[in-house]
Amino acid sequence: MSANSQKVYVKNYGCQMNVYDGQKMADLLKPHGYTITETPEDADVAILNTCHIREKAEHKVFSDLGRLSVVKKNRKKVDKNNDMIIAVGGCVGQAEGEEITRQAPYVDMVFGPQSYHRLPEMLAQVEHKVKGKRRKVVDTQFPTVSKFDFLPSTDKTPVSAFISVQEGCDKFCHFCVVPYTRGAEYSRSVKEILQETKHLISLGAKEVTLLGQNVNGYHGEGLDGNEWSLGRLIYSLAELEGLRRIRYTTSHPLDMHDELYNAHRDVEQLMPFLHLPVQSGSDRILDAMNRKHKVVDYLKIIEKLRAARSDIAFSSDFIVGYPGETAKDHQDTLELIKEVGYAQAYSFKYSPRPGTPASILQTQVADDIKVTRLAELQHLVNEQQIAFNQSKVGQTLEVLFDREGKLPGQIIGKTAYMQSVTFDGDSSLFGNFLDVKIKHGFGNSLSGERI
Ligand code: 5AD
Ligand code: SF4
Repeated sequence: MSANSQKVYVKNYGCQMNVYDGQKMADLLKPHGYTITETPEDADVAILNTCHIREKAEHKVFSDLGRLSVVKKNRKKVDKNNDMIIAVGGCVGQAEGEEITRQAPYVDMVFGPQSYHRLPEMLAQVEHKVKGKRRKVVDTQFPTVSKFDFLPSTDKTPVSAFISVQEGCDKFCHFCVVPYTRGAEYSRSVKEILQETKHLISLGAKEVTLLGQNVNGYHGEGLDGNEWSLGRLIYSLAELEGLRRIRYTTSHPLDMHDELYNAHRDVEQLMPFLHLPVQSGSDRILDAMNRKHKVVDYLKIIEKLRAARSDIAFSSDFIVGYPGETAKDHQDTLELIKEVGYAQAYSFKYSPRPGTPASILQTQVADDIKVTRLAELQHLVNEQQIAFNQSKVGQTLEVLFDREGKLPGQIIGKTAYMQSVTFDGDSSLFGNFLDVKIKHGFGNSLSGERI
């Protein structure tokens, strides 16, 4: 494509992997002369990098598309040659494909998470008018060659960066669309990951979060040609000069392994905070969900992690109102939460997703019951989160600052436990680790002052 001066707007929905993919889309387009804009009204190309995990996420995409169609129409009214390109990428693109262009005919392009490396080529195809009309481009293939071979390195890096190390999922939990939208498990090689991490560090990253839908199932080619586990990968990342914090998300209990426990014990840079979703505290529901482990297995894992690193804190995902969930199952989940004691947790009402086994079960739970159970669960988790935050008051914690706060003269950083800390300071402190004396613990954040 020839150099151009077009502006691209990318909106990410859903998980951190989408944030990573969205950044890569920008990285791919920049060498083709595109600049990034934060305002859809200014954009020549608008890309919605979508999420399909729950119905609500999908609805959001269609309402944003409606708004974009108005922007597109208004621009055309002013200048009929000024035709905005609207693209739907990500997991809704993958799941719905051509159907999107039928429901929303103003959409020019649809692609899935495995084909966005072809973005410059797809845009050129859309722009190439045949008999004055644009062609629509739909690409939802799972190519046999990894997209990672085609992704350029980034030129902009936050202090805390993401790196995708594993993608896709073979677990097929009965509620989840991910195995269908992201495809089979794939692990990048250790060499590639080390290269990308070194590059991120050279641009100023101090913290990396290793991303994967099932990240602790990582089994990429190691430096010796053998398969390496996530634990082994973490040991080798820890040798990189300048990398102060390592995290990984999201994990499945079945894929916890000895090298990973050992990494939690031995690697100082591996943060003492783990997101380990359990989804439910009832064996009956875990079985129905096809999670393939029992509550007691999960508790053993928590115990082993605490033995490896005594200051470790946990977070989880919970689904309430899974088909067939009784009041007793729900109570069991609350009991599990009490037993573990979480630093934070995400919880959702079960949302039937087309094509997944749970969506066709006859035992769907009524929405008002889901609402009540969700409120109850969130109340308990919030209490635990506040207690966890307040337990830090008076302590001195190391905070990595990377963002402006809401108020002038205020900045925000993260503790080892992913708590946001507000602090009086300015952007010259971004990228610095400061010891902060914690003064207040709130529901979602802490505040502190310089020692
Ligand atoms: N309904 C509700 N929550 C879901 N999740 C995944 N699929 C569904 C669904 N159909 C939740 C799980 C998962 C998180 C990313 O989203 O808790 O861990
Ligand atoms: Fe979905 Fe996670 Fe289950 Fe995979 S392990 S199917 S991504 S919930």
